[in-house]
Amino acid sequence: MKKIIDTVELEELTFSELDPREAALVLRAQEISTKAYAPYSKFQVGAAILLANGEVYQSSNQENVSFPVGTCAERLLLGYVGANFPEQAPQTLAIVARREGDIDWAGVSPCGMCRQAINETENRYQIPITILLAQPKGIVLRFQGIRHLLPLKFDDLHS
Ligand code: THU
Repeated sequence: MKKIIDTVELEELTFSELDPREAALVLRAQEISTKAYAPYSKFQVGAAILLANGEVYQSSNQENVSFPVGTCAERLLLGYVGANFPEQAPQTLAIVARREGDIDWAGVSPCGMCRQAINETENRYQIPITILLAQPKGIVLRFQGIRHLLPLKFDDLHS
């Protein structure tokens, strides 16, 4: 028997400790979250992505009365930029969420399907994506690559 230990790393920062481009991305995600279509969960998510050419795009979550048909903000966004700007590698992805009616931001962390979608984008462009997850009280968690959110991921098992 061999014991294997895999560690993950993340940084916990206050909003003002982010670099200006990252802070702008979080703000853009906050802005778009107000456009969420989340009548079922009332969990309004916003995602913003910085591409290699410096352009920023954003999306909110879009739900469906048939719940599994709804799409998370970040997966919708990855699909959109992958389809429209395939030559621009995504560099940084910010995700925020707020429960309808709340003042403070909720803690957010991507679901398993979205983690796999982020992983696919990293593989496609062969670079890790910086992931920013907004938390309550102005805290932001920063991960340098999906492996820190998805250890032992599907493609690791094949390498
Ligand atoms: N959701 C996202 O859009 N992104 C996440 O990272 C977490 C969850 C959405 C899916 C659903 O519309 C709602 O939030 C509640 O799960």
